[in-house]
Amino acid sequence: MAAGRFVGSRTACLEGATDLCYETIPDVQLCETIPDVTVRQETSPFIQACRREPVPYTPVWYMRQAGRSLPEYRKVREGVSMLDSCTRPDLITEITLQPLRRYDVDAAILFSDIVVPLRAVGIDVDIKAGIGPVVATPVRTSADLGRLRALEPGDVPYVTEAVRMLVAELNGRPLIGFAGGPFTLASYLVEGGPSKNHDKTKALMYGNPSLWHALLGRLADITISFLQIQVAAGASAIQLFDSWVGAVGPDDYRHAILPHTSRIFSALGEEGGGEVRGAIRGVPRIHFGVGTGELLGLMGEAGADVVGVDWRIPLDEAVRRVEPGKALQDNLDPAVLLAPWDVVEERARDVLGRGRTAEGHVFNLGHGVLPETDPAVLARLTDLVHAESVRPEA
Ligand code: CP3
Repeated sequence: MAAGRFVGSRTACLEGATDLCYETIPDVQLCETIPDVTVRQETSPFIQACRREPVPYTPVWYMRQAGRSLPEYRKVREGVSMLDSCTRPDLITEITLQPLRRYDVDAAILFSDIVVPLRAVGIDVDIKAGIGPVVATPVRTSADLGRLRALEPGDVPYVTEAVRMLVAELNGRPLIGFAGGPFTLASYLVEGGPSKNHDKTKALMYGNPSLWHALLGRLADITISFLQIQVAAGASAIQLFDSWVGAVGPDDYRHAILPHTSRIFSALGEEGGGEVRGAIRGVPRIHFGVGTGELLGLMGEAGADVVGVDWRIPLDEAVRRVEPGKALQDNLDPAVLLAPWDVVEERARDVLGRGRTAEGHVFNLGHGVLPETDPAVLARLTDLVHAESVRPEA
């Protein structure tokens, strides 16, 4: 269903080049716009669905499609820490491509982490196996804000290099860039690590609005820069993971978070596109969070083109909660993949059917692939989604 196999790198980047070559050369010279790739992305089912255009079939990719569910991922990560692996263009490229060798997914997602830009500006953050991001000195006072300086492209050269290498390898298949959303990043910084209820974060949000807005403003600046760097290097869509924002109610979301998220999305859209070199039109912007059923309308209002939905709200209900003019993404419960195949099949069909009520639907899980997932099930699911959703008229 998807474009041909990406087997090598472009040999050169000539002005006006219209085709890709398949010879691998170690030292790839890259340009900022790749005309042929741009043209192909216009017809990628993933991009079409994000733009609510007719699709030949429902496109599919999976959050955490790269990662511990794949034995080849565990192998290349042996002896390399998570965050170190995110600073090595060769590893980023390899890990990003691994799931595409197994699954006929319609997009790749850059292998990185939401805390990568924080570490790049000097925050002492590490990812501890089985725990998640841990921040040695949490950010809790206005003096602490000084540690959150602006992010420059030179802080993350490995991201630029990896994105360019990937675009060259992907043969027109879209690469999704991403960043963490303001509440989720603030939570790791304020709590100092993963948190169940985000109490300290919410205490700051309720108790010291000026410090809260100053913190989210700085995080938004870092996020805008991190996303623009990925788009400038060739990412053809972006996803903002505000994974834990479901911890707040709609009124607080509107006043404490939405203004910052809106600024991020507008800086990435056509309206802010002047600074995004290489982006012909604004790239599709996807906005995802977990447990955000009550926030879906506002998450769309914040300026996303595509609103991500976890498994707690059926997609046809999500359609009613999101304003017209938005596509939806996701929402099979990742735990369903641990059940027998006939259950997976039935649930996937249900998601597809309800997804047909949306103006555009990108099939995905309602959160990341669980490490114990059998890759063979994901391969089979990918083919099922494509086969079941073929539009005869397309
Ligand atoms: O989706 C993909 O395939 C791209 C890769 C990706 C990673 N992190 C790699 C990763 C993405 C999109 C993220 C985003 C991310 N990181 C989020 C938002 C998405 C979500 O899951 O809600 C969050 C909250 C984080 C923070 C984070 N990083 C957590 C909670 C963990 C898990 C800790 C653990 O060990 O269980 C990480 C580590 C991490 N990021 C792993 C991967 C593949 C696992 C670490 C490893 O393999 O050693």
